[in-house]
Amino acid sequence: MRHFLTLADFSKEEILEILILAKTLKNEVKSGIYSNPLAHKTLGMIFEKNSTRTRVSFETGIYQLGGNGIFLSSNDTQLGRGEPIKDTARVLSSMVDLVMMRTHEHSRLEEFSAYSNVPVINGLSDDFHPMQLLADFMTMQECGKDKNPIVAYIGDGNNMAHSWLMLAAKLGFTLRIASPKNYEVSQKILQKAESFAKISGAKILLSENPQEAILGADVVTTDTWASMGQEEQKETRKKAFQDYCVDSKLMKLAKQDAIFLHCLPAYRGQEVSEEVLESAQSKIFQEAENRLHAQKGVMVWLHQNR
Ligand code: CP
Ligand code: NVA
Repeated sequence: MRHFLTLADFSKEEILEILILAKTLKNEVKSGIYSNPLAHKTLGMIFEKNSTRTRVSFETGIYQLGGNGIFLSSNDTQLGRGEPIKDTARVLSSMVDLVMMRTHEHSRLEEFSAYSNVPVINGLSDDFHPMQLLADFMTMQECGKDKNPIVAYIGDGNNMAHSWLMLAAKLGFTLRIASPKNYEVSQKILQKAESFAKISGAKILLSENPQEAILGADVVTTDTWASMGQEEQKETRKKAFQDYCVDSKLMKLAKQDAIFLHCLPAYRGQEVSEEVLESAQSKIFQEAENRLHAQKGVMVWLHQNR
C-alpha cells in the first residue's frame, strides 16, 4: 500500500503514469463518460485548515469515480478536541478506503499514515502541497511547457516552493527560486531535492533576485506571502516581500510565450498584479480545474496499487 505525502515518495515514471490516468479521466468526463472505478469506496477528508479548491475537487472527484466523500472539519471532529492522531487514524481507516488530510506540521500526516490501514493523501501541510503540483504539471503539459522547461518561482520558500523543488528534482527540469533573505526554502528539503536532482539532471538555482530568476523562463509562478497559520506575520512579510511582486514589468523578462501559474487564492497587488493574473499568459483557472482531474488520477492509482 502506498501513501501520497510528498512527490519524493514517487518515481518520475509513477508521476507521469498518474498524469496519464488524469488525462484519460479528464477526457472521459469532457465526453460525458463516467466509469466507476471507485464504486462503493469512501474518501475521508480531514481539514485542519481552510480550503475551497482542495475540498471541492476531492469531493467532486470521488463522486465522479463512483464513490463517496466525507468532509471532516477539525471544528466538528474529536481530532479537533485532542483525540490522538494514532487513534483517529486506526478508527477512520477501518471504515473508509482512502484518506485525504490537510494539516499543519507535516509530521501529523506522517503519524496518521503510520497508523492508517488505507492510503493517505497530503492535501497540504506546512511543508508540502503535492496535489497542487500534479495539477500544475498537468497544466504545463496541456500548454506545451513540459519538455525541459525553465520554471521561475518568485516568493516565499514555503510548501509550494518545496513542492516545486521536489517536482523539478524528480522530473529533471530547471527551477529557479527567488526569495528574500530569511524566507528561503528549508535546507533539509533542498538537500533532499538535490540528491534526486543528481539522478534526474534537474538544475536548481536559488537567489534573492527575481529579475535573474525569471529571465527567459517558460513558466512563472508564485504564492501568497503569508500562508495559512502565518496570519500574524502578514505586515512584516509585506515589507520583506515588497520587491517580489510578479507584475507585467517583471513578467516581460520571461519568454514571450511564458505561462503564469498560481495555486490560488491570490492576493492581487501583493505577490502578483491584477494585470498578470488576468492576462492571456495566466492559466490559473485551467490549473485550478486540473486539481479535480489530477487527484482523480491519484485516487485511482493508489487504489490500483494497493
Ligand atoms: N490551491 C489550493 O489548495 O486551494 P484551497 O486552499 O482553496 O484548497
Ligand atoms: N502556501 C499557501 C498555499 C495555499 C493553497 C498556504 O499554505 O496557505
